[in-house]
Amino acid sequence: MEEKKAKGKIILVDDEESILMLLTEFLRENGYEVDSFSDSIEALSALKTGRYHILITDMAMPKIDGLQLISYIQKEYLNTLGIVITGYGSLENAINALRCGAFDYILKPFKLEDIMSVVESAMYYYNLMTNVGLTQKFSSRANLMKRFSQSRLLLENALLKERLKEKYKFNNIIGISFGMQKVFELIEKVAETNATVLITGESGVGKELVAKAIHYNSLRKDNPMVVVNCGAIPENLLESELFGYEKGAFTGAYNTKYGKFEVADKGTIFLDEIGDMSLNLQVKLLRVLQEKTFERIGGSKPIRVDVRFIAATNRDLEQMVKDGKFREDLFYRLNVVPIHIPPLRERKQDIPLLIDYFLEQANRFNDANVEGFDEGALEVMMAYDYPGNVRELNNIVERVVVLKKKGIITIEDLPEKLWVAKEKEEHIDIQKGYETLVTEFERAIIMKALKETKGVKSKAASILNMNRTTLIEKMKRLGME
Ligand SMILES: Nc1ncnc2c1ncn2[C@@H]1O[C@H](COP(=O)(O)OP(=O)(O)OP(=O)(O)O)[C@@H](O)[C@H]1O
Ligand SMILES: [Mg+2]
Repeated sequence: MEEKKAKGKIILVDDEESILMLLTEFLRENGYEVDSFSDSIEALSALKTGRYHILITDMAMPKIDGLQLISYIQKEYLNTLGIVITGYGSLENAINALRCGAFDYILKPFKLEDIMSVVESAMYYYNLMTNVGLTQKFSSRANLMKRFSQSRLLLENALLKERLKEKYKFNNIIGISFGMQKVFELIEKVAETNATVLITGESGVGKELVAKAIHYNSLRKDNPMVVVNCGAIPENLLESELFGYEKGAFTGAYNTKYGKFEVADKGTIFLDEIGDMSLNLQVKLLRVLQEKTFERIGGSKPIRVDVRFIAATNRDLEQMVKDGKFREDLFYRLNVVPIHIPPLRERKQDIPLLIDYFLEQANRFNDANVEGFDEGALEVMMAYDYPGNVRELNNIVERVVVLKKKGIITIEDLPEKLWVAKEKEEHIDIQKGYETLVTEFERAIIMKALKETKGVKSKAASILNMNRTTLIEKMKRLGME
């Protein structure tokens, strides 16, 4: 009951008991639910399990310090916003914390009102980030931007202004989640260098988009970016695509053909689906990476090129190396700067912004005028796990816009697969606890198999692909015998 009424849930960490008590009481009086810890190790395990909106932590603490707690939030992609408390003399520390992903800082000695204003802007930002009603309230990104710039943060805090400035959009890549913010940072850092980049992530997370962002923010942007899909082309064709061939190199080679490496000279070559490249071609590619020279097929003249390499894959290359399916030396050559794009289900904060973005596009392309998603529809969109990631989200939005044309999207307008998933999830009463739920499910599975086989256990076992004795044991354990 309490929980519902609270303005937000805060985890407070400070090894100084007096400050801890003072702040706990103050925040509670102001309507927040507070869990406080003087031991940062305990705080870390609470952070792992609890769903906190805000973490307020002292910087200097024995064992685990504030910065480590902030880094943990980043590493686990928690939505929790971190606020650090630090001494006046150490503004450096505060800036460091912001760089590590803290939302804001409080300088000691502080006034309690200061705490309140920082906490309230954090809550405001948190809601903006995760609120499922976001699209509805700010029906276009322009409105959202307006709201952003009116917020206290942007007006009052120059450091944060720097941090939030258009930060949720990098070129045409949308992402407000910590995971995507990190990707943006990496793109910025690496773009102007010539470093080889390996982009990994599931299908549809935006690997090609990131590759383009790197190229178009680099000094090579006026030269070509050449895309080669190593998965889509058969091996021998891929070889001639990449290296080109000399006239007469083989039957049918009537003219000299330039390979993609040559076409990409002074620009960038994007080797997509690199995990699908044959071991044979991997050797040849390695040589180009190492020596920047190669020969056309059937040729003997070494050709020198100045190319920046970006590769991408949705496969686990490290595992492929272990399995002997990908050359280790090539892996290290490619993996100079790894950029991993997390799947959409691990950064659901991005969903409302992506919906807005794709909605605007779909309206424009289809001459439609859909205003937004209502709260229920948005909730369903947030609950879905998107195996096809951003591409799937885009397709869903485009499809509902085309079918709806105008008005507001409700649950009924959404593809069935979305609310089926939602319903399944709704039937799970998490209060029962994990063990009970799993047991219930096991029981239901066995019941169904037994019904189908009219109670014949050996048949039921074979349908379920298990031994008859295992089935009988399980039934005993579940009290079904
Ligand atoms: N963060 C994002 N913001 C805006 N659009 C995105 C974002 N991520 C992906 N998209 C869009 O989703 C679609 C899929 O992206 P992209 O082709 O880059 O994915 P991919 O990771 O290369 O997928 P695959 O492994 O299947 O090739 C594209 O239309 C892209 O523009
Ligand atoms: Mg791709």
